[in-house]
Amino acid sequence: MFPPARFNKSIVLVLILLSLIHVEGCTRRNKRKSHDCSGSAARAPDYGYSNIFDVLAYGAKADGFTDDSKAFLAAWQAACRVESAVVEVPAEFRFLVNPIVFMGPCKENIIFQIDGTIVAPMKPWMRSSGLLDWIQFKRVQGATIQGNGLIDGRGSVWWGSPDYQLTRKHTKPMPAIKPTALRFYGSYNVTVRDITIQNSPQCHLKFDSCSSVDVSNVTISSPANSPNTDGIHLQNSQDVEIHHSTIGCGDDCVSIQTGCRDIRAHHINCGPGHGISIGSLGKDKTKACVSNVTVHDVSIQDALFGVRIKTWQGGSGFVRGVSFGNIEVWNVKIPIMIDQFYCDKRVCRNQTSGVAISNISFIEIRGTYAYKAVHLACSDTMPCTDIDLSDIELQAVARVQNPFCWNTYGQSQAPTLPPLSCLQSGRPYNKAPLHTQDKC
Ligand SMILES: *[C@@H]1O[C@H](CO)[C@@H](O)[C@H](O)[C@H]1NC(C)=O
Ligand SMILES: *[C@@H]1O[C@H](CO)[C@@H](O)[C@H](O)[C@H]1NC(C)=O
Ligand SMILES: *[C@@H]1O[C@H](CO)[C@@H](O)[C@H](O)[C@H]1NC(C)=O
Ligand SMILES: *[C@@H]1O[C@H](CO)[C@@H](O)[C@H](O)[C@H]1NC(C)=O
Ligand SMILES: *[C@@H]1O[C@H](CO)[C@@H](O)[C@H](O)[C@H]1NC(C)=O
Repeated sequence: MFPPARFNKSIVLVLILLSLIHVEGCTRRNKRKSHDCSGSAARAPDYGYSNIFDVLAYGAKADGFTDDSKAFLAAWQAACRVESAVVEVPAEFRFLVNPIVFMGPCKENIIFQIDGTIVAPMKPWMRSSGLLDWIQFKRVQGATIQGNGLIDGRGSVWWGSPDYQLTRKHTKPMPAIKPTALRFYGSYNVTVRDITIQNSPQCHLKFDSCSSVDVSNVTISSPANSPNTDGIHLQNSQDVEIHHSTIGCGDDCVSIQTGCRDIRAHHINCGPGHGISIGSLGKDKTKACVSNVTVHDVSIQDALFGVRIKTWQGGSGFVRGVSFGNIEVWNVKIPIMIDQFYCDKRVCRNQTSGVAISNISFIEIRGTYAYKAVHLACSDTMPCTDIDLSDIELQAVARVQNPFCWNTYGQSQAPTLPPLSCLQSGRPYNKAPLHTQDKC
């Protein structure tokens, strides 16, 4: 048996080669006889009989250089007015699309079928365009984005440039916040499946103020050293399921932010990256609430962290009702982490408040680690409570440090490897967490 990672890589390689051969053949034929490869380009929109809105029929050049945004918008707007419409981005074509917003609400059950490749502009665009993110869906409901196509953010043109640097072509500084490749805002009952998203300038797939979201069988990839390229980012969203997907990037594979509840992530292959995390929460004394999060049947390899909760000092609100179960880690630096002292500078001042963390379980976490199996750093004023670590079996693959806990109250239902003696039993004296009554 091949190790799974290598096996996957060879399949990907073969697929890439196959697709290159295919595109090659297509271009050559195209040169000889102009219509051979663009059969569907000639297809007229068949309004009477069909509910398929092919972007080629709306004037997309599909050469990978010409801006096809107008065609995409026109196809979307037409489809939006029809029930069960399909916007088709056909296979074997490459479409350059500028920052774009697909606005809803639409008639029910719209499908955005991505079979071809959509590429971002080759140079950074400015916030002044009014659009920071690249492809956005706003206020859509009952929409499905699917297909075996590719969304390529061509992020390398952003990664190299330090924030606020004056670039040659632009007279304004580069924004510190870089675009998300695919963002959903204010939407519900959204399904995203099968597609591949790669090399986003920053976050790959983001849901903001959404509910009833299902993400499955997606592939997300960017280099391990690409800055802040989160895989999937959730914010102010409820009832979200992310499953059967492969995510490798330069930051968190899945990042769960404030305002999220009823989140389930499972059967995810994560790495490289920074693992699966809740937070960071409570920055700049903000209030943050996250509850009812389940992460299970996840494999994390070659990552800095495994499963993690991170909060800033000085915030308020809570994280509660989180369970991490059946997590496999391979060569992960710190597989289990709670950090209530999160700080992206060298030193952050300790504060008297913090985001309360309670009722968190880490069960059946197995595999190998390279630095510290467990790091639980809870604040002096706001200790973590009801923390359960059971069935932990982690083997060191390098010179490692002992597990660490600070102000962490909870128990271990079963012996752990490495042994964990730093959990405090019971509840913190005189520190009844009043805040858990808080509403967000
Ligand atoms: C959610 O969307 C799917 C298809 O996109 C549709 O079949 C279903 O009826 C929708 N459900 C609700 C509650 O809107
Ligand atoms: C997953 O997506 C790929 C395309 O990226 C597709 O070929 C495959 O059939 C999908 N698998 C399932 C189980 O839907
Ligand atoms: C927790 O979230 C799940 C969905 O992930 C939902 O089915 C369940 O009802 C929620 N539980 C509570 C107590 O809200
Ligand atoms: C703790 O969280 C779990 C979900 O992980 C939930 O089912 C349970 O009811 C919570 N317990 C308490 C006491 O809130
Ligand atoms: C903050 O508090 C922690 C825990 O008591 C301590 O280890 C750390 O040194 C303090 N940091 C600062 C900047 O005072």
